[in-house]
Amino acid sequence: MDRRAFLVGSLGALGVAAAGPARAQQPVSLPAGFVRLRVVPGELTVDGKVGKAYRIEREDGRLGWVGRRGDRFQVALDNGLADPVAIHWHGLILPGGQDGVPYVTQPPIKPGERRLYDFPLVQAGTYWMHSHFGLQEQLMVTAPLIIVDERSPQPMRDVVMMINDFTTRDPAAILESLRTTPMGGMKMGGSMKKGMGNKPDLTDVTYDAFLANRRSLTDPEVVRVTEGEGVRLRVINMSSSSNYFVSTGQLGAQAIAVDGEDIVPLPGTRFELGVAQRIDLRIQIPRGGGAYPVIAQAEGTDGQAGIVLATEGAAVPTLSPKASRVAGALTNQQEEKLRALHPLARRPIDRRLRVTLGGEMMTYVWSLNRQVWPKITPLEVKRGERVEIAFENRTPMTHPMHLHGHVFQVTSLGGPAVLGARRDTVLVAPKQTVKVELDALYPGYWMIHCHLLYHQAAGMMTVLHYQGFTNQSYDPLGSLAEFPRR
Ligand code: C2O
Ligand code: CU
Repeated sequence: MDRRAFLVGSLGALGVAAAGPARAQQPVSLPAGFVRLRVVPGELTVDGKVGKAYRIEREDGRLGWVGRRGDRFQVALDNGLADPVAIHWHGLILPGGQDGVPYVTQPPIKPGERRLYDFPLVQAGTYWMHSHFGLQEQLMVTAPLIIVDERSPQPMRDVVMMINDFTTRDPAAILESLRTTPMGGMKMGGSMKKGMGNKPDLTDVTYDAFLANRRSLTDPEVVRVTEGEGVRLRVINMSSSSNYFVSTGQLGAQAIAVDGEDIVPLPGTRFELGVAQRIDLRIQIPRGGGAYPVIAQAEGTDGQAGIVLATEGAAVPTLSPKASRVAGALTNQQEEKLRALHPLARRPIDRRLRVTLGGEMMTYVWSLNRQVWPKITPLEVKRGERVEIAFENRTPMTHPMHLHGHVFQVTSLGGPAVLGARRDTVLVAPKQTVKVELDALYPGYWMIHCHLLYHQAAGMMTVLHYQGFTNQSYDPLGSLAEFPRR
């Protein structure tokens, strides 16, 4: 198989260019204005290793969805897999019934079945979509969901950088070995030594490669840019289990948004990016031109991925998927520097919720408030309340905590109150308590979970429920079927 045929992470209009394979176009009738998205199987050969790399693609083979502020999200989602699927639109504020969580907001979509989604977009920014069914996210059932803001004051070239962790293993086998290997299978081919005592645990899973726009650094995507121009680089961490340091090298950058929400610009050249989070970097391509790698190195490993921004004729350097040094742990100190450009209006808190993060590394059971999904009692809120959620981490690992269907504001990272970033996924470091606030405006059942896929699968998930809201397909115990059990 021609390797290039699968190396398509293309978002042409956004400058992520790569030729798609020719595809047979089947005539399909779509409601007017709808975009067809298909979930299809696929494979990638990365540095000689073959693994699954499924796709959520449009008719032209490009991944994901791109629209403009004020558009409607009108999508016909076709399941081209041999298994059920459910696709979650990560970060969007949307009607609860279209949130794409099997057994909670909708029944799974059967093989060959189509589901329609239609709702107004009330945000603009960098979002993404991924399977919420079983362990499919690890098979790269992941894609960008970009809402361009044409009112943005500075026109910039839009470039998307999707980061995935890539494995040749069956994700069910990974979960199984995490459950059966003492210390959570951390030694699987990895470099971590036994008896590391109380050192924080960085990664549970060892990967074969890290990919940017579905390519290894042995053959990275080279994005054409022009000298002197401004680039909006939308970096999306679509990984199942890896946090990254994103470095722009000799190019100075400014972080201008996280999780789709504008922040007070934060200058730097090295940024932390947790699982499921996004960071938008504004980069000025220097006069005179050149080739500028943007590299994401996975926490606790020497593995890295990246793309190259290059002006016409610039010599692209040879890059290695192995960094010269193993990266340490994310510190989460970046979060303390982030300030929302448009903070939540101040008002008193009506309800305080606490979510305690717990885990048993020996048995690989992970919990929230000592409850293990799907045997949970939903957290309750009332519509109209200002709600505070305190995430208290009692484990030796950092967890990226995500709430569906809302944008929250980080208000404390353990120290004094802050007007922190507004976002949908926040890292909670070992022993840290992170507080967030939100306005409960969107009735529904909304997942709260750790976005490390194997933690989620091992129970680290619960539900925020609006009192009085009902949904006939709500049956969390139905999800017992979706994750492979021992
Ligand atoms: Cu991106 Cu429930 O997740
Ligand atoms: Cu976790």
